[in-house]
Amino acid sequence: MAKAKNNTLKLNFDTKWGYSPAPESKSIAKIEAKYDLFINGKFEKPLSKKYFDTINPATEEKLSEVADANAADVDKAVKAARIAYNNVWGKMPAKERAKYIYRIARMIQERAREFAVIESLDGGKPIRESRDIDVPVAANHFFYYAGWADKLQYAFPNRNPKPLGVAGQIIPWNFPLLMAAWKIAPALATGNTVVLKPAETTPLTALKLAEIIQESELPAGVVNIITGAGATGAAIVNHSDINKIAFTGSTDVGKIIQRAVAGTNKKITLELGGKAANIIFDDAPIDQAVEGIINGIYFNQGHVCCAGSRLFVQESVFDEVIRKLKDRLETLIVGDPLDKNTDIGAINSKQQMETIHKYLKIGEKEGAEMYQSNCPLPKKGYFIRPTLFTNVAQSSRIVQEEIFGPVLTVQTFRTDDEVIEKANNTPFGLSAGVWTDKGSKIFNLTTKMRAGVVWANTYNKFDPTSPFGGYKESGFGREGGLHGLSAYLNVH
Ligand code: NAI
Ligand code: MG
Repeated sequence: MAKAKNNTLKLNFDTKWGYSPAPESKSIAKIEAKYDLFINGKFEKPLSKKYFDTINPATEEKLSEVADANAADVDKAVKAARIAYNNVWGKMPAKERAKYIYRIARMIQERAREFAVIESLDGGKPIRESRDIDVPVAANHFFYYAGWADKLQYAFPNRNPKPLGVAGQIIPWNFPLLMAAWKIAPALATGNTVVLKPAETTPLTALKLAEIIQESELPAGVVNIITGAGATGAAIVNHSDINKIAFTGSTDVGKIIQRAVAGTNKKITLELGGKAANIIFDDAPIDQAVEGIINGIYFNQGHVCCAGSRLFVQESVFDEVIRKLKDRLETLIVGDPLDKNTDIGAINSKQQMETIHKYLKIGEKEGAEMYQSNCPLPKKGYFIRPTLFTNVAQSSRIVQEEIFGPVLTVQTFRTDDEVIEKANNTPFGLSAGVWTDKGSKIFNLTTKMRAGVVWANTYNKFDPTSPFGGYKESGFGREGGLHGLSAYLNVH
């Protein structure tokens, strides 16, 4: 502001309007310097004697170190889960089981702020998302499945649903607490016990959940949480006393797991990659659709298996959509995940940042036109500007392969049939979005799209009551809703 001659304040319109930082306090998060393995209700030193660091991807600083479980540690956890299943949890009346699940849900709510801060510190996602989506939806999953625990005979009338036994659960780094909730809540409600492994870059909220589980006085061994990387995951998959494997992660590892359990009695659900089409018809409310595109791909840095990474725009509104999209990109704030103004936080790891950079180069080599917003980036940490590619071909690698970053490809179409054909032309089939004024078009598309979830005039909405899962290389089995129960039951 400049002072005018007559001593009144005059706004200086040359000054660029900006946001003042509004960071959430780190002091809410109680993070130990070192974490052991949560086995049989206690934190136990790893037999491997090894630990590894987990860092904050926004600052590259070490947050803590966590145990690196080896096959002997996995065996110890599975034995604890088996004993708990045989002696306590499998025998407990369902309504008693439900009380524990409710208690865990309420404790997550009570500690919501702490969970949100830890999630953003460890994984790089904006606090607005961890606070408004990850943590509340995680609590809702526990509430929802607590309600089912004593109603399984109503869920499967005239059948005799029985738990499977011990479930091995392996989760990724994009929604660490939420994926733990998606896996643990239905397993407990159906009477199974659990050995869960979070991803190596984001173990801290699962370990915080272990503390809550301990405080909840859930019988020892019902939930065991062990940390480690791929080798630990493989030891879970290959353990002979596990009855069910639930995995969310890359298609490559999904295939390895499928091969490993082939010929065994293990039940399996896989939730793998995606390359979702987000389809904008010319009769769509364009401003809303632009928000939907932004939410679809830039949400959580594009670290979303159901991200709307392939945009299809009807030809007549292409120029308008692109102009509005570029304008909107310029307003997105990339930076400190703990700042409440931040739209796009840090890329989860150096490795994932390198993968995304590799695809940006591939896109340019393929002759696509790249547009990136001009926002400033922090000097330290792993950050990428929101990016969009136009002038891409259906066969381009950036159109066919999962990038898992804030990178959108844009194609055009003329007719419904053309866009259905193009949208389905992918090895994946997890989700899709459609934006139009016409209900009839929505129904036409939703019946023909080979995708597990289709959002209409919205995107990335999650609810515990609605099943989620894929077709083709996006995996099989459903999580959430009634369907999510049957994945943990033998129903005869
Ligand atoms: P990843 O599939 O290697 O990791 C997911 C989980 O699997 C982690 O807990 C990891 O420790 C575990 N794991 C790794 N190798 C294993 C094995 N052989 N047996 C059992 N468990 C194993 O995913 P990564 O390497 O972190 O990401 C690579 C790509 O995967 C990403 O760029 C993205 O395209 C995709 N991805 C998809 C996710 C989804 O939600 N569908 C989540 C994370 C990654
Ligand atoms: Mg980390």
